This record gives sequence, C-alpha cells and structure tokens, in this order.
Amino acid sequence: MPGMSRVYYCNSGSEANEKAFKMVRQIAHKKYGGKKHKILYRDRDYHGTTIACLSAGGQDERGAQYGPFTPGFVRVPHCMEYRRHEQDGAPVENYGVWAAEQIEATILREGPDTVGALCLEPVTAGGGVITPPEGYWQKVQEICRKYDILLHIDEVVCGVGRTGAWFGYQHYGVEPDFVTMAKGVASGYAAIACLVTRDDVFDQFKDTPADPLNYFRDISTFGGCTAGPAAALENLAIIEEENLLENTTAMGNYMLDALADLSDRHPVIGNVRGKGLFLGAELVQNREDKTPVAEAQVQAVVADCGRQGVIIGATNRSVPGYNNTLCFSPALIANKDNIDEIVTAVDGALGRVFAG
Ligand SMILES: Cc1ncc(COP(=O)(O)O)c(C=O)c1O
Repeated sequence: MPGMSRVYYCNSGSEANEKAFKMVRQIAHKKYGGKKHKILYRDRDYHGTTIACLSAGGQDERGAQYGPFTPGFVRVPHCMEYRRHEQDGAPVENYGVWAAEQIEATILREGPDTVGALCLEPVTAGGGVITPPEGYWQKVQEICRKYDILLHIDEVVCGVGRTGAWFGYQHYGVEPDFVTMAKGVASGYAAIACLVTRDDVFDQFKDTPADPLNYFRDISTFGGCTAGPAAALENLAIIEEENLLENTTAMGNYMLDALADLSDRHPVIGNVRGKGLFLGAELVQNREDKTPVAEAQVQAVVADCGRQGVIIGATNRSVPGYNNTLCFSPALIANKDNIDEIVTAVDGALGRVFAG
C-alpha cells in the first residue's frame, strides 16, 4: 500500500472503522477546535454493527430499532447507475460525475469547515454490489482535496484480493487517507482487522509533545494478539505465491460473462455487475420499470442453491424494498469448474422459483 505505513490491528471491521472515526474526531479537536468533526457516509453502504458504525450506516433495516444514533454522521446519496431513474435530476450522460457532485452538494449544505471525512466502500457490498460509475472516484477525490476532507475507504469486503487487486480503490486510482480491512486479511482463519493510514495523517497527533493526550489513544484487549497477524502473513504469502489476484481477475471475468449469458435466459435478472470475484445479479419483476422482486423470492433462490450444495449470498434485511440482489463471492482459488457449478445451480434455482 504505497504511502500507507501506519497500521492498527484490531478484531473486526467495525472496530477498524471506529478507529478511523476516532482519528477524524481527534484531528478535528487538535486542528479545528472540534468543528471539522462530521463524517459523511453513503446511502446503501455498511460499515459495521456498533452504534457509531450504524450511525454511518446507509442500510436502514440494519439500523432500525437501534437508535438514537451518534451525532455528526451525515448521509450522501448512492451512486447506483442502474437505478439512476429513481434519483431526482440524475442524467443519463456522466452519471458518475453527477453522483459525486451530490456529495459536494451535501458538503456545501453542511459547511465544508464542519466536514472532517468521507467514508465509502470502493464497491458497495451488502447494499447491492454497486460498482462505481465511470468518473465517480476521480471526482470524489477531487472534492475531498478541494475541501480538505479525509477520505476513508472501507475495504472490509473488497480488501486483500476480492476484486482482483490487493485493494478495491486501486482500480480507480484513488489515494485514500484511511483504509480499513477485515474479512480477507486472514481469509477468515483468524479474527484480524486493520486500520491503515499515512504518516502525514498520523503525525497530526504529535504536534505538542508536552500534552499527555498527544497521541492516538486507543487500547484493546486483543490489540497485541499475535495469532491474527501470523495467519494474515501466511495468507498474504499464499495469495502471492499462488497468483490469486490474477486468478480472481480471470475467474471474475469468466463468471461475469456466464451471469450475463444467464440473464439472456432469465428475464428476472435485470442487471449483473461486480469486480473480480465479487459479483451480483439484481432480480426485478420486469426490466422496464425495474421493480424489485420480493426478498422472500430472493431467499428462495439462495435456499434452492443451498439444497444443490452451492452457497450463494443475497442482500438481506438491509435496504428497505431493495433486498433483491444475489451476491457471489467464490473462493479466490476457484476454477472454471467451480464457477460453472455455481452458475448452473443459480440457473436451476431461478427456473424453479420463477417458473411460469
Ligand atoms: C463493508 C463492510 N464494512 C464493515 C463491516 C463490519 O465488519 P465486521 O462484521 O467485521 O465488524 C462489514 C461487515 O460485513 C462490511 O461489509
């Protein structure tokens, strides 16, 4: 991770995100009299299960019944091109730039001197496998620089190979200030997550040596546990030795094509999208108005695949009315036979669930 030399270990993606939020708040206190404390997050994104992470949560069903939430978190619109017709004023041309400009509009409404950070997933995961539209990330970076806003990229799902690059943001030429990661760090074999940041961000805590509070104050029972890093180091070595980034890219493209072929035969598939081995198929009642199918039908597809011995995922209890996307994240070692098996299972399940 070029330029990102400060690493904080922790136990979950939620905790890694909380650390970044704490850093944003502490920097606001140290540099801006506490004013630049607001953290923007995006509709449909998810950042974790704790109260502060749910305060930054763009999936209302995840947060329902757990409020009141932490002040200072502000929502910006999503960037889902497939559903741009549902967003007032969204253009057909240059949608990505328009979607990023909605973030700028929020910053201007809140006051740029009150906004400390923007927290985004590189590809929205549980909110619908939303790949960023053309031009989006470049504009987002430009806006963050213009208003001196720290860019926090949540790579808890996309990080460590899932999209075919080490990190999702690397596909889009972005330079983040914070990166959080969890699931892929040790491929699930140990509970380890990290917050990574740059020296120049970290140095902001060290401005007045006489101040006893002059460092990032964060402690955790398992913060120094060595099992996670040991598993992570071995996991990273295997990804390199077995060329799993290349495999992920190749198998991801293969699967994307296979899902596109499937959509020729199943009109219920309204859209397929994704990056590397992180793919989604959005199910709609008809392709004209893109009305989502019922969540129960999506779950019936998942269950049918399960009966065939194939585990797939789906957006669930996340975005009200829009839990209608099948999610696929095969192992990074998957081969063509494995992908064929998954797609064949989905083919059969769609046929049975949506027969007639
Ligand atoms: C994008 C994203 N961020 C953060 C989290 C929270 O991570 P954890 O469940 O490890 O706390 C998740 C969990 O699924 C996630 O998908």
